Amino acid sequence: MTEIIKNKIVSGMRPTGKLHLGHYFGVLKNWINLQKEYESYFFIADWHALTTKYNQTEDMKENIENVLLDWLASGINPEISTIYLQSLVPETAQLHIYLSMITPQNWVERDPTLKDLAKIMKDKHENISNLSYGLFGYPVLMSADIMLFNSNFVPVGIDQVAHVELTRDIARRFNNIYKIELFNEPQPKLTKTSLLKGLDGNKMGKSFNNDIKISDSPETTEQKIKTGITDRNRIKKNDKGNPQNCEVIYDYWKIFGSNNEQIEICTDCQSAKMGCAECKKKLARKINEYMAPIRDKRKELEKQPDYLRNIIYEGSKKAQIKAKETIIKVENAIRMYK
Ligand code: TRP
Repeated sequence: MTEIIKNKIVSGMRPTGKLHLGHYFGVLKNWINLQKEYESYFFIADWHALTTKYNQTEDMKENIENVLLDWLASGINPEISTIYLQSLVPETAQLHIYLSMITPQNWVERDPTLKDLAKIMKDKHENISNLSYGLFGYPVLMSADIMLFNSNFVPVGIDQVAHVELTRDIARRFNNIYKIELFNEPQPKLTKTSLLKGLDGNKMGKSFNNDIKISDSPETTEQKIKTGITDRNRIKKNDKGNPQNCEVIYDYWKIFGSNNEQIEICTDCQSAKMGCAECKKKLARKINEYMAPIRDKRKELEKQPDYLRNIIYEGSKKAQIKAKETIIKVENAIRMYK
């Protein structure tokens, strides 16, 4: 009997706190679909979080738990996907050190995300030398995450593509240097950019104060939706609105409303039958309906800390088995002492 070999995917998120609807529609929904088809590894990148938050670790544990809760509630399935914590698979660090030896410094310096991070550091501390050795290694650590399972695809947003390109370069260089066809060259699998803008019209982000969390209560959701931007030319309720110029709220309707509901909203807005306040109230109700099963499941899971811990530990053990196989091959290729 021939075993069907599935292609592999790996992706991770830094534990920065509760996830928002931008994560849900932009990343998680994609992962949830892909996990049915691919051998999937999803991990919480706590070491990557340390690259910038090394001195703010008080809420690390809570952040990890919140990410896990959001993943599970959204439908990442631990029965079919391997969910793990980066630091519980220390083979990641082993591979990282080997990759760091063969990665030219100027390859890392070219990394655009790193340049952005460096800029943020510079803005905060006014001193570029605060960019740590670890942060500098961010893209190499990410390459180790990906190569640890010899993944074929990496489902990420457009902002991460440069990192995957670097991984391809490093994988090729490893094969060349040690004259072995060990690593394949992973491809980014682009997540359609988040369809969901922040309430202020910018990219939805935790630090911009424009997000709706997966775990927000219906009341909070309604409060937040009230701040969403609509058609700026529609000042009074009697003014006729134009959904084409509605900057945020109508975009949300396109995701949460049925076709018929969208038509109805358009008609009532254009004829000034319905004002923005009412429209937002209706939208909040729709979002809350949509999110209710996820939020209910999250509340249930919150009551089961042992189960959550078990998922992280069991998943990490499972990941470690595969990771160890890779390390053996790598160390043989490099001719490390055995
Ligand atoms: N850098 C990614 C982010 O900030 C997180 C990440 C770390 C990752 N390692 C990875 C994503 C490996 C995909 C594959 O979103």
